[in-house]
Amino acid sequence: MKDLIIVIFGSTGDLTSRKLLPAISRLYKKNQLTKATKVIALGRKDFTTEQYLEYMSGQASKQLDIKTLSKLVLYHQMEITNLDAYQSLIELINKEKNEQTRELYYLAIGPELFPDVSNHMSISGLVSIGNLNQSIIFEKPFGHDLFSAKEINQMLWNYFDEKQIYRIDHYLGKEMIQNIMMVRFANRIFEEIWHNRTIKNVKIIVKETEGILGRAGYYDQSGALRDMVQSHLLQMLSLIAMEVPLTYFSDDVKDEKIKVMSHLHFDHNSLILGQYDGYLEEKNIPKDSQTETFVFFKAYVNTPRFKGVPFYLMSGKKLDQKESLIIVEFEETSEQRKWDLPLSTNKLYIKIAPTDGVGLVLNSKVPGLTGDVEPVELEYCIACHAFGNMTEAYEKLIIDIVGHHKTLFTRWDEIELSWHFIDHIKKYQTAPIIYNDYEELKKMIKDLTHEEMK
Ligand code: BG6
Repeated sequence: MKDLIIVIFGSTGDLTSRKLLPAISRLYKKNQLTKATKVIALGRKDFTTEQYLEYMSGQASKQLDIKTLSKLVLYHQMEITNLDAYQSLIELINKEKNEQTRELYYLAIGPELFPDVSNHMSISGLVSIGNLNQSIIFEKPFGHDLFSAKEINQMLWNYFDEKQIYRIDHYLGKEMIQNIMMVRFANRIFEEIWHNRTIKNVKIIVKETEGILGRAGYYDQSGALRDMVQSHLLQMLSLIAMEVPLTYFSDDVKDEKIKVMSHLHFDHNSLILGQYDGYLEEKNIPKDSQTETFVFFKAYVNTPRFKGVPFYLMSGKKLDQKESLIIVEFEETSEQRKWDLPLSTNKLYIKIAPTDGVGLVLNSKVPGLTGDVEPVELEYCIACHAFGNMTEAYEKLIIDIVGHHKTLFTRWDEIELSWHFIDHIKKYQTAPIIYNDYEELKKMIKDLTHEEMK
């Protein structure tokens, strides 16, 4: 195991307190990081390391493991847009590192800062292009449309080698999302039936109960389509619809996902956009904002395997429950059509939140003297079988970056095609309907598509 230095730009933000620091302390406790690991937290505020950790504790929604973090973290005050400030950071890193140290530069900052920070990282000599011991990690948003995404990407390529760049889509680090390929390709029963002759439709659902949680500046420019569909939902769709990759190495997997995205079609008659009642009263949201916090639409993947199968994508905030789920629904059997019984269709549930797992819905006879039928679910709950704590997405992602494994990160052409798709949908954007509760939206979807959402 190599020693590690993780430099966090934007270290006082929400991502650092909610995801990065907890993931780092958990990895350390699981002995996945060496004792010499250092986390250099950069920020403008005049803090000592102790004050920084105290401040972050106040920000975090769950208790931070301060005892562990105080062994790892060094707070370094710095104005990241000032080129001269980089020299003292370089000196600090040089003091902490040896020849083998892996360096991770985590840009937990808004994209408006990417150009300056990337430029300064390069010009100051902090990061050298092509040095694979140094990885640069970006979080979305990668732009707000295809044009801006291209600009950001081109800018990154000016300063870093693609092999050094890790673009995070944290959904790819989730246990059940990683498991989709395994369930599909390592089970004969699914291999045989994974096509348009047996699959009736696919539903990709991401529901949240929270609102925008103080992220007005970002969210109002983004909305549900850009925030959720462009990244997480399209990644899930690609994993469901892709062909078997040549190998499970990163590029082969991505080559297959790309084919899905380039065969994606959107049915504009199915688009429903909503905004939760109260959104306009959120702090810093313009009173006339038309940003959508809910989106539903139907899409098709026009490959021989999936041609004709509707994919229903839905994501929204302030809905009835926190749930991320993919439902693959199968056609009825011919017998089933003959019998006049209330049979339900078979469904494969791929459950991502609140708990990861798989479920398979079958028809079964109700036990007893009658011949009644009922749908039953065979269920596998991953968390119930995991030993100790479940690995969080960010733990897996950090470990993969350290090991140079790129499968769970997005390649530029995936991002390019997904923006192309979103830009096309955006052309049909109309004023969102205001919703108070999920039932209204469900009814609207049912009236439009005859589909029952969960
Ligand atoms: C983020 C979005 O990418 O994913 C947020 O920016 C959203 O708006 C979040 O709340 C959902 O992630 P999770 O892991 O809680 O389902």
